[in-house]
Amino acid sequence: MPSIEVAATVAEALHIEARTYVVVDLLRATTTIATLFAAGLRELVAVSEIERAREWARREGCLLFGEVGGLPPPGFDYGNSPVEADAAPVRDGRAVLFTTNGTAALCALAGRGSVMAGALANLDAVAREAAAFGEVAIVCAGEAGGRRFALEDFAAAGVIARRVEEHLPGARPGDGALLAMRCAPEVEELARASAHGRAMAALGFEGDISFALRADTSRAVPAISEWGAGWARLVDRRTA
Ligand code: MLT
Repeated sequence: MPSIEVAATVAEALHIEARTYVVVDLLRATTTIATLFAAGLRELVAVSEIERAREWARREGCLLFGEVGGLPPPGFDYGNSPVEADAAPVRDGRAVLFTTNGTAALCALAGRGSVMAGALANLDAVAREAAAFGEVAIVCAGEAGGRRFALEDFAAAGVIARRVEEHLPGARPGDGALLAMRCAPEVEELARASAHGRAMAALGFEGDISFALRADTSRAVPAISEWGAGWARLVDRRTA
């Protein structure tokens, strides 16, 4: 039976059986990923440990994106910023991304059915693709390595759940999805009021927040195509 679940944390998602998992880190990892693919990136490796990210980028000679505490760490080419991603010279290229929670969430779910990166940026594209699988779990990347709730991810997951429902008539939303869908109309206010939204604004990333709240700036459906311990390779499912 078609179903839509929203897992408030990665820890919860590991107990949900679905055919596809859409990982959401609105501020900012999955928004950055959707934007990089919209800018023409061919392949992205999401990595869950910073040293491995540095090594991988050095070995493969690709651009290194990411953050620690919201800021680009030493040696990184770019931060985890969708505004920067939008302007970065990535066409036909490859990149490595390390972020505190978003890339760890993707790596944690790798291997459980089809796993995609979703955000408001690629709202319709990812919702359509996920709906085609019939049983959809939308997973909030959250905080503290996927163990703590993050309001901005939950509200964005609700927006995606609503769009999946439009493309999957008759689907049964679970309790988490029902609550997240109630938050959806207030996603902008909730994301700005969230702890991480306030932290991003305090760091001067107001532009990234506004970018992340714009729907459908990307047609990309970044999906995991290959993975190993602590890494996951994503390609755009539309063009792969
Ligand atoms: C994360 O992965 O925790 C976030 O994307 C952090 C950020 O906003 O840079």
